[in-house]
Amino acid sequence: MTATVGMPFTGDVESPREAAANRCMTVDDLPPLSFAAPNPADATVSGSAWPVPDMAACHALWDRYAMPDHIRAHSNRVADMAMALARAALNNEAGGLNGTDIHLPSVLASALLHDIAKDYTIRFGGNHAQLGGAWTLHETGNPRIAQGVMHHVHWPWRVDVTVREWLMPLIIIYADKRVKHDQLVTLEERFDDLVERYGRTERIRERIRESHEQAVEIELALSARLGMALHDAVPRGGELTVNAG
Ligand SMILES: [Fe+2]
Repeated sequence: MTATVGMPFTGDVESPREAAANRCMTVDDLPPLSFAAPNPADATVSGSAWPVPDMAACHALWDRYAMPDHIRAHSNRVADMAMALARAALNNEAGGLNGTDIHLPSVLASALLHDIAKDYTIRFGGNHAQLGGAWTLHETGNPRIAQGVMHHVHWPWRVDVTVREWLMPLIIIYADKRVKHDQLVTLEERFDDLVERYGRTERIRERIRESHEQAVEIELALSARLGMALHDAVPRGGELTVNAG
């Protein structure tokens, strides 16, 4: 099936929502960066996978790009949440289509680096997801990790966590939406805070509402995929637990 209309990243003629609806991409329509090289989880042969920076290498990149301490703390919480989600996906293998081969070291790197460009763009302008994706690709040579950084604010295609290559970026975007500063919160708390801090105009508030709607859609899809209600689930000891308190 070839449902692609145009190419991704073609600019701003259509809204992201219209673009996603028009493209209705399937796994066969993925853009070239996705997926010519083997999935890291499949790659046992040296040199056959993209390089994946470990935690120390990610911390070195934080230093190189002068990431402030509060963004490091935020990134650590996002990484905790993303890793717990990824482990839950692996543990719930039976519920997946064609199995789950999400690669935990890639999830860790993508989560730790997702806001690598945040401080720079606050100070000098620009889109922190796009610039961060470019920096991450440049530094790591790994387009899959860069994709998680690039799309951690908005997912421009349909939400489908059963597409193997989409699960990791959807986990990163959801984990980020569950962390306010360095605290795990619900989506409602996170987006209430965004409206309060940034909702100066109706246009901005509308964009925040759209982002909230997409986050809820991702939460529902991941909850079904992982076999647990994620609304207030939090990572404890590396595993997701439902937050009774
Ligand atoms: Fe973030």
